[in-house]
Amino acid sequence: MKRSILITGGAGFIGSHVVRLFVRKYPDYRIVNLDKLTYAGNLANLSDIEQAPNYTFVRGDICDLELMRELFRRYAIDGVIHLAAESHVDRSIHDPFTFARTNVMGTLTLLQAAREAWENAWEGKLFYHISTDEVYGALPASGGLFSETTRYDPHSPYSASKASSDHFVRACHDTYGMPTVVTNCSNNYGPYQFPEKLIPLFINNIRHRRPLPVYGRGENVRDWLYVEDHARAIDLIFHRGHPGETYNIGGFNEWRNIDLVRLLVRTVDRMLGNPEGYSEELITFVTDRPGHDLRYAIDSSKLHRELGWEPSLQFEEGIERTVRWYLDHQEWMDNITSGEYEKYYEAMYGGR
Ligand code: NAD
Ligand code: TYD
Repeated sequence: MKRSILITGGAGFIGSHVVRLFVRKYPDYRIVNLDKLTYAGNLANLSDIEQAPNYTFVRGDICDLELMRELFRRYAIDGVIHLAAESHVDRSIHDPFTFARTNVMGTLTLLQAAREAWENAWEGKLFYHISTDEVYGALPASGGLFSETTRYDPHSPYSASKASSDHFVRACHDTYGMPTVVTNCSNNYGPYQFPEKLIPLFINNIRHRRPLPVYGRGENVRDWLYVEDHARAIDLIFHRGHPGETYNIGGFNEWRNIDLVRLLVRTVDRMLGNPEGYSEELITFVTDRPGHDLRYAIDSSKLHRELGWEPSLQFEEGIERTVRWYLDHQEWMDNITSGEYEKYYEAMYGGR
């Protein structure tokens, strides 16, 4: 095997796209997917590649130092792409400890295992940490973009935990000389996203004629990137990024939540053959999320300038594909919302 890469969180939304891309594109790499299978992990996301000879799944927790050591030894890991995390802001408001445990202590545990396995032999190694633009805080309604030098200013327990993990990764580079890369990406969308997040939740609710709970007045702005474009950026940066560097990833694609929700309503209605405006009445303004960041917008010009990356998909086309995918994969969605997929894990792994 040319490389042996540990991808953490590979059964989640973005991780499953990264695992699929690497398993298919690099048959001479060994891809080890380490995932705890929390509520957000779903092996059905990878059913099309699970038999590939260069793919191995390991169920485990990144906080388990002995297991991490064992994986580095057993598979002679020379690269890490670290995606495992608790990822939903609303959950972090209710349960910040779980976020500190996995996102901070889990990242530190993985760094420790990498350091022990690689120390004094950094050549050809890379610890690549996947992070979010939310660490930069919030921008005013118009004007300004987050760059790689924007001061960290996290507001939610989620973004605070991700910010902390980013700092530990950089500290390992600066203190021990570990080759590390951090990327901070904007909001992703596309197939296999857990339906607690805005886009899959709302597509499913429109289909079932359930209310669409828009926080506040829907004036918050997010910068959306198609998940496969993120996975392509990760591939490029894993192979050509410079150790010690940070890269922002985003598609220069800002949308007010309410405009995005209206686009979703129009698209789903059209695909289901409903009359125009049919589902508009489902839009319901609800109490705002506490500490809700007003606007995120990413300047990804460094990544374009240095490594030539740019997003491949226009947003309208990406939304078209995404809505089509969720409508065509109703069983995937129903298995999650009915709790059916939990039974599958129970049978396979004795529960979570
Ligand atoms: P997700 O919630 O869909 O998936 C997370 C995965 O991590 C799940 O498979 C889960 O089982 C696994 N996991 C959780 N705790 C674990 C633990 N202790 N040990 C091992 N595995 C564990 O998340 P996602 O949206 O795919 O995000 C992946 C990464 O990308 C996260 O680090 C997130 O912060 C970052 N990110 C996400 C977005 C976005 O828009 N979704 C944007 C930028 C960055
Ligand atoms: P989300 O998908 O949770 O991502 P993030 O909080 O990481 O940006 O939310 C995207 C935006 O949509 C955010 O501004 C919060 C808002 N939102 C709602 O208005 N209603 C909802 O039910 C959800 C889940 C999110």
